[in-house]
Amino acid sequence: MNYKLLGNSGLRVSELCLGTMTFGKEWGWGSDYAESKSVFDTYALAGGNFLDTANRYTEGTSEKWLGEFVAKDRDHFVLATKFALKDRNGDPNFAGNHRKNLMRSVGESLKRLNTDFIDLLWIHAWDFTTREDELMRGLDDLISRGLVHYIGISDTPAWIVSRCNTLAELRGWNKFAALQVEYSLLQRTPERDLIPMANALDLAITAWAPLAGGALTGKYLKNQAGRVKEESIRRNDKANLIAQLVVDIASEKGSTPARVALNWVRQQNGIQIPIIGARIAEQLTDSLRCIGEELTQDELNRLNEISKIDLGFPHDFLKTDGVKDVLFGGTFHQVENHRK
Ligand SMILES: NC(=O)c1ccc[n+]([C@@H]2O[C@H](COP(=O)([O-])OP(=O)(O)OC[C@H]3O[C@@H](n4cnc5c(N)ncnc54)[C@H](OP(=O)(O)O)[C@@H]3O)[C@@H](O)[C@H]2O)c1
Repeated sequence: MNYKLLGNSGLRVSELCLGTMTFGKEWGWGSDYAESKSVFDTYALAGGNFLDTANRYTEGTSEKWLGEFVAKDRDHFVLATKFALKDRNGDPNFAGNHRKNLMRSVGESLKRLNTDFIDLLWIHAWDFTTREDELMRGLDDLISRGLVHYIGISDTPAWIVSRCNTLAELRGWNKFAALQVEYSLLQRTPERDLIPMANALDLAITAWAPLAGGALTGKYLKNQAGRVKEESIRRNDKANLIAQLVVDIASEKGSTPARVALNWVRQQNGIQIPIIGARIAEQLTDSLRCIGEELTQDELNRLNEISKIDLGFPHDFLKTDGVKDVLFGGTFHQVENHRK
């Protein structure tokens, strides 16, 4: 396993991150303690150092077990957790992006993880009520206190992330080093604004659900059981066509669908780190073997074509010849360095 720098930071993280939302059976489709330990050991033995959890996952079990698993060699691992999602029902201050919940949630995570510091703290999702300066100043305080080392943001519109980092830069506060987005052959809409923004701001892009929760392994085409429900957009006609092409390409090149789907993510523009989910160690062993395999340009083209999305306004509009003409006075092809 090789390492990538986490965006604009000097932190070295494995090229594949292990997602631990499956650690614990509270949500009906995870793994028990022994299987979770086996998934963790498989990842660590393969040289992985980058672990993703959240305060909310499996009602706290994921953090508790992960804390135990890393305890023997805590400093080796880059432990990432999140805050913002609820820890209690019916209480508005036990959720959200505001300072009170930030401080409380991080305190609880440190206890569950049984550690003195969090390597990377993610804002789990944007609450559309807390102001950007309240959040960024709170995060900067946590870093100053040594409780958190790096920060990242997940599930948030591009304009807000961009505003947060610009504000932090102007005020001399710590900035986000990484972005977490749902990104896969079944979810390409981050290509509209989030991915170009991450590339422009030098944020690492970590992709959650790179297998679309398992749909891209083709298991549902064979009516096998799994956690993705039949009525999900991950199993509609278009999704099934894409999954079938992934299965076909895997069989043509002697690979597996999971590895093909993961390498499609890894070979996209920017620093792409899939956050791999696995319910059992065998699945992880298969997925980890994507390292060392590559998709050819022809395979990428076929996958890109079947899964393509409309970029919509203003992207499509700005790409038209008429607009280029009026923006460059007829010299578009004579001017160097067009930024995408
Ligand atoms: N920021 C966010 O909002 C957010 C949201 C979701 C997840 N995440 C993070 O991203 C991580 C990954 O998410 P995810 O679990 O949805 O990812 P995923 O990789 O798309 O799906 C993982 C699931 O696919 C199936 N699978 C995995 N490898 C397989 C293989 N080789 N062959 C056949 N089936 C296989 C398993 O499900 P079954 O065997 O049960 O079918 C497994 O639990 C999470 O653990 C979490 O850390 C973040």
